[in-house]
Amino acid sequence: MGGMRWIDTLESAAAGKLPEAVHRYYRQGSAAGVSVGEATAAWSAYRFRPRVLTDVSSIDPGTTVLGTPVATPVLVAPSTMQRMADPDGELAMARGVSAAGSVLGVSSNAGSTFAELGATGVPWWLQIYVVRNRDLTRQMLDAAVAGGARAVVLTVDTPVVGRKEDEGETVWDLVEPGQLLANLPAGDWSDDDLAKADDLDPDVIGWLAERTGLPVVVKGVLRGDDAKRCADAGAAGIIVSNHGGRQLDGSIPTARALPEVAEAVAGSNVEVDVDGGIRRGEHILTALALGARAVFVGRPALWALAVDSTPGVARLLTDLTDELTHAMRLAGAPNPTALTPDLLAEPR
Ligand code: FNR
Repeated sequence: MGGMRWIDTLESAAAGKLPEAVHRYYRQGSAAGVSVGEATAAWSAYRFRPRVLTDVSSIDPGTTVLGTPVATPVLVAPSTMQRMADPDGELAMARGVSAAGSVLGVSSNAGSTFAELGATGVPWWLQIYVVRNRDLTRQMLDAAVAGGARAVVLTVDTPVVGRKEDEGETVWDLVEPGQLLANLPAGDWSDDDLAKADDLDPDVIGWLAERTGLPVVVKGVLRGDDAKRCADAGAAGIIVSNHGGRQLDGSIPTARALPEVAEAVAGSNVEVDVDGGIRRGEHILTALALGARAVFVGRPALWALAVDSTPGVARLLTDLTDELTHAMRLAGAPNPTALTPDLLAEPR
């Protein structure tokens, strides 16, 4: 018996397979690395008040996200550079996510086309950065709709890209444009066209919803008042996220921002999800108790993809789901609805 938990072996196993610059690119945070460094510990800081003498003979961690039934509330966060981890990149990731009955977030800087992704049958959400040239964004949205995207995830924490102190020049030398921007519409785009729009306001939510006919989820919210602004502007969902500690360094851990955001939109139909540092079943239990409908994992999915492609991704998601199920049983909560804030001790 014993040995290391498989999930805990993933990063070093991936490091043995990936070019050094790619490993560093995946793992790093911005600036001094404060936020990336404390994300997981902030989840582990919560304490539970488990219920006893409740029937936990049958546990179902399944739920729906924006109306899509999922076998697990553990979803995969959008991330770029997946073809650096696996020759099939997002397509290998998509097949693993699909096997686990989950949902895939697809970066607007993906290395597979939306049509190819749609053909895998995975339920997927388009993550979009609105760029200065709205015509380019419009064309990308239309292609995503044609590829069967079920939601648009608008990332709002990136008016500019966070500085990574130890950014390896070499990652950009290794990647070919098609591996990064497979969905860039044909055209003679300038750097200014492609630059991220830094003058957005909540009206962009309605614009995206109207253009696509899809629910819009705002990713990168850390404050209750911002969540309320997004909800008032028509958002269907909020992802509490600090971009895995890759944008404003020192941003509050998502484990601590989640209660405020959940409270700000309580009683509405807005679904709240969260990501950042989630590595164990107990972290997921905490997130759901604090009001999240689902969680996203970012780096662990990249490590799993690098280590064992599609089966690795599927195993990561099923292992985390098994851990959640186990924790739910120990906590006296047979399904996600039974996970409420009173499961956690003060201070929450
Ligand atoms: C990201 N993330 C990200 N987010 C986004 O909205 N669009 C993107 O293209 C990317 N790209 C990206 C690349 C890499 C290498 C990483 C590690 C992350 C952020 C991602 O969606 C998510 O918010 C975090 O990764 C969640 O934190 P953990 O689970 O990695 O700790």
